[in-house]
Amino acid sequence: MSRFWSPLVHRLTPYVPGEQPKMADLIKLNTNEFPYGPSPRALDAMRAAADDTLRLYPDPTALALRTALAERVGLTAENVFVGNGSDEVLAHAFQAFFNHGDPLLFSDVTYSFYKVYCGLYALPYRLVPLTENMAVQVEDFTAPCSGVVIANPNAPTGTAVGLDAIKRLLAMHPDRVVLVDEAYVDFGAESVVSLVKDHSNLLVVQTFSKSRALAGARVGFAYAQPELIEGLVRVKDSFNSYPLDRIAQAGATAAVQDEAWFRQGIEKVISSRTMLSAGLTGLGFEVLPSQANFVYARHADRDAAQLAASLRERAIIVRHLRGERTSSWLRITVGTDPQCNMLLSALRDILHRNS
Ligand SMILES: Cc1ncc(COP(=O)(O)O)c(C=O)c1O
Repeated sequence: MSRFWSPLVHRLTPYVPGEQPKMADLIKLNTNEFPYGPSPRALDAMRAAADDTLRLYPDPTALALRTALAERVGLTAENVFVGNGSDEVLAHAFQAFFNHGDPLLFSDVTYSFYKVYCGLYALPYRLVPLTENMAVQVEDFTAPCSGVVIANPNAPTGTAVGLDAIKRLLAMHPDRVVLVDEAYVDFGAESVVSLVKDHSNLLVVQTFSKSRALAGARVGFAYAQPELIEGLVRVKDSFNSYPLDRIAQAGATAAVQDEAWFRQGIEKVISSRTMLSAGLTGLGFEVLPSQANFVYARHADRDAAQLAASLRERAIIVRHLRGERTSSWLRITVGTDPQCNMLLSALRDILHRNS
């Protein structure tokens, strides 16, 4: 508290990011980062960008990166917006599109930053409960609204809805923006980017932080028709004209062009996810069917917070979220096979000791 703060700052409830501890030999399965390093081509491009030209501002429009992202999905640079992590893209979208009086709709169990942006921009919102099975049901998003935000796959549950469900949602709210947050889409869900051409109210947000292993470079992006992209650019250019530095733009552009590295990495994570889910099920956990690079799991008769604490004593960190519908669950990032195996054997040991 401070007398220097504006009333808005007093009211804010900021997002709490997953911790980034400095412990040595930590198995870090708490913030859904990619378990392998980025594309070597991306690293080379970033090293090459670290030269005398750093004295100059970067391209404020990030045209080379936007063009590479557009070409990958058969769109043009006019359909692409980039920002400092998808968090920044989301923040600009909330400010640009969701201030129409009615509440914004999003799930009761979803990415917790959505509520934070509503607080920051004073936007009313309404939580739409997930089903009993912790799934998103688009038919529940019927209320008059200022827009809809769906994380697909959802976080922290990892489950996804298909293209047809998003099509129904777009048709239900033709005069409102439907934002589909596809941070985890590359790990097996169906992207709705193909719907951009025919739907003026669709905004698809993605990131380099997960499937491209560039969380540390902070690059996010969005696909939409030019009218929505222009709205985002207006907000961006009223906030920070240069959200992506030269090094990030160079690395991200090279990463988009390294399709072989991308495919191979995704396959490895999906295979580890299958192994991890089966292992957890074998230990008595209920595991939701994940299409993301994490799994959401709970044990029938073990307290999730205690399990997380016991894992932590063994230098393994997973995410436990407080809350009525989340406190019995653990969100576990899919690590390398050896990391997943170490997690499983630690859990086996913890469950055995306490039985
Ligand atoms: C659903 C979802 N959207 C967006 C983000 C933000 O990612 P970034 O800002 O690193 O692109 C995250 C991060 O974990 C997420 O879980």
